[in-house]
Amino acid sequence: MERFAEPTLQTYAGWEEYHSKPVTEKLDCFKTEGRLFDIIFAQQFDRQFLDYLCRLADCIRIMAKTKLGQNKLRHLLPHKRAMLYFVQPSTRTFLSFQNACHVLGLKVSEIRGSSTSSEVKGESPEDTIRTFASYVDLIISRHHEAGFAEKTAWVLNQTERPVPVVNGGSGPDQHPTQALLDIYTLEREFNNTGGLDGKKIAMVGDLKRGRTVRSLSYLMKNYKDVELYFVAPEIFGMRDDIKQFLARHEIPFHETDDFESVMPLVDAIYMTRIQNEYSEDPKSEAETYPEFYFKAEHLSKIHAHCAILHPIPRRHEIEVAVDKDPRAAYWRQERCGMWIRAALIAYLFKVEKEIFEEFS
Ligand code: NCD
Repeated sequence: MERFAEPTLQTYAGWEEYHSKPVTEKLDCFKTEGRLFDIIFAQQFDRQFLDYLCRLADCIRIMAKTKLGQNKLRHLLPHKRAMLYFVQPSTRTFLSFQNACHVLGLKVSEIRGSSTSSEVKGESPEDTIRTFASYVDLIISRHHEAGFAEKTAWVLNQTERPVPVVNGGSGPDQHPTQALLDIYTLEREFNNTGGLDGKKIAMVGDLKRGRTVRSLSYLMKNYKDVELYFVAPEIFGMRDDIKQFLARHEIPFHETDDFESVMPLVDAIYMTRIQNEYSEDPKSEAETYPEFYFKAEHLSKIHAHCAILHPIPRRHEIEVAVDKDPRAAYWRQERCGMWIRAALIAYLFKVEKEIFEEFS
């Protein structure tokens, strides 16, 4: 349906004051009774939470291996409903959340584009989300605007029926649940080499607009002696806000455009694609940056234990021939996403105890 009115801009008392605060002072707005209520920023996660969630995901994964276990999981939340509001293209994040909900028995509704919602009638995005909150118990949103999930969660928290909002990707800004699955994947890949502490990680590609690498960088403050290598074409280098954050937390990082020189140094390589959908000239920018590709010929240059990650979708950043190598972790990484999101939803609805009890 064609849009026949621009979205209505509404003013919320208190929003400007809240919005002007630094993130560290905002975190309490998304917590209740000492627990996370909304999942908006990667900065909300501390080490204890990350370790806890990885352990919970492992338990869910083990339970889901049997029919009996799957049945138990499905009976944890059949009385809850979730809304997937995904108005920016998505395949795996959508499917991974949808299937995570199915694992726990939640019922799911979805909107996959604003053209089929009342936004075409000029409804404000905040009213749209408030409408969902009338019907469901959890809202998971993906939006092209940075700060969308944050504002809707803040608005809902002022109402009489706040439901948790989970940020499934907010423009070029953050993707906190991707960061959770990246951590879960790295911890699993480093299972035999002492976990993530002390590891060297290269992030490669469009670091300027890639929200996944931004959120993952924030999480590094939770790990001891981690060292980062930012490998990017000069125009797509990591933005200053992240670099300042890392400097404040004394996390060493190096910046280079010489990918091959970094390959033998690191324990993990996190590949990303050029995020040209944010460009004014997407076609010309889709052009390739072959110096930032990982090819089969590079496999001999990296450590025997080096994990290769990619949030996917990939274009040419990783040659398909690399997929067969045991160090190619990106398909395992996708599946980790479903388990850690199931763990997150179980946590939000406070049913972890029932899961851990299966293992006591
Ligand atoms: C990423 C995203 O949407 O930011 N994909 C994903 O969620 N798995 C990465 C990307 O689109 O390049």
